[in-house]
Amino acid sequence: MNILGIESSCDDTCAAVVRDGRELISNCIATSAAEQNLYGGVVPEIASRRHIEHISQVAERALREAGLTLDEIDAVAATFAPGLIGAVLVGLNFAKGLAFSAEKPLIPVHHLRGHIAALYLTHPELKPPFLCLVASGGHSHIVEVTDYTSFKVLGRTVDDAAGEAFDKVARTLGLGYPGGPAVSRAAAAGNPRAYNLPTPHVEGAYNVSFSGLKTAVLNIVNKANMKGESISVPDMAASFEFRITDILAEKLLLAAKDTHAKQICIAGGVAANRSLRETLQKGAQKLGAKLYLPDISLCGDNAAMIAAQGYYEYQSGSLADLSLNGLATLGIDYR
Ligand code: KG4
Ligand code: ZN
Repeated sequence: MNILGIESSCDDTCAAVVRDGRELISNCIATSAAEQNLYGGVVPEIASRRHIEHISQVAERALREAGLTLDEIDAVAATFAPGLIGAVLVGLNFAKGLAFSAEKPLIPVHHLRGHIAALYLTHPELKPPFLCLVASGGHSHIVEVTDYTSFKVLGRTVDDAAGEAFDKVARTLGLGYPGGPAVSRAAAAGNPRAYNLPTPHVEGAYNVSFSGLKTAVLNIVNKANMKGESISVPDMAASFEFRITDILAEKLLLAAKDTHAKQICIAGGVAANRSLRETLQKGAQKLGAKLYLPDISLCGDNAAMIAAQGYYEYQSGSLADLSLNGLATLGIDYR
């Protein structure tokens, strides 16, 4: 079954073709990240406008690179929640129009379920149940994936998402947007033990909190500025990266231990972080669990993951008609 996926929930306009939920046929992205960098973060209206300009060409390219005509596509899957609502609606309405005019089924896909499905494209043998950390610019969840369309949230951030914390610290350090890769690059030349940053206390065994960590960085930078001193950007980037990935890994591994998980996964933009990947590799080995990492190229937003999850949503009978609306927020465990 060939599914055309459409994704536009943030600043990337994406279309892709995936066969039977597992085989990536094409994967196309147009991003407005460079333009968003001028403003230090994503400006929702700019994202929506760029989606409108790019969506038709990106979808055409995904079909062309797949060597398929629209006739040979069996269904259209689109992100309908959660995300910047003006951005979501561009891709969703494009997908609705395409599905209606080509008389194809329309499959609504939850963005975070899509991030998890990126793992199916990387690891053909991976099947639920497994435990997954989903860490993106808007969410940080520890989720039990009990089946392809069945999820139980064990823990979440009580304030900032992990990616958001990377982005804010990058801005404080003058490193630009998106912050995750920029902090990582700077951290490569720094000492992770140079600044002793706090692990914020939080209620709930598997919950995380990053607001205090971000503020700690801000306070050190501001104090140094007031005294006319400078801080080492590489050392601060490395210390922050060390602390935040340590917190994420510790919570995920604790949840894995308590639930006797044999398969541990990570997904979302932050899953591209090298320090997180390495820390988890060691931790999973100690637990005797197998760690599955998504291919770096599939960690950030893309439509292949939406088409992959779309396949399993279709199998479970989750189809939509033209009354389908987009939602800015929706839990991953919706039914
Ligand atoms: O999943 P994603 O592409 O979009 C959302 O759904 O939000 O995640 C984007 C987030 C951004 O906050 C970005 O800074 C972060 O993922 N990110 C990283 C890395 N690459 C992207 N964070 C840490 N390390 C990275 N290498
Ligand atoms: Zn995302």
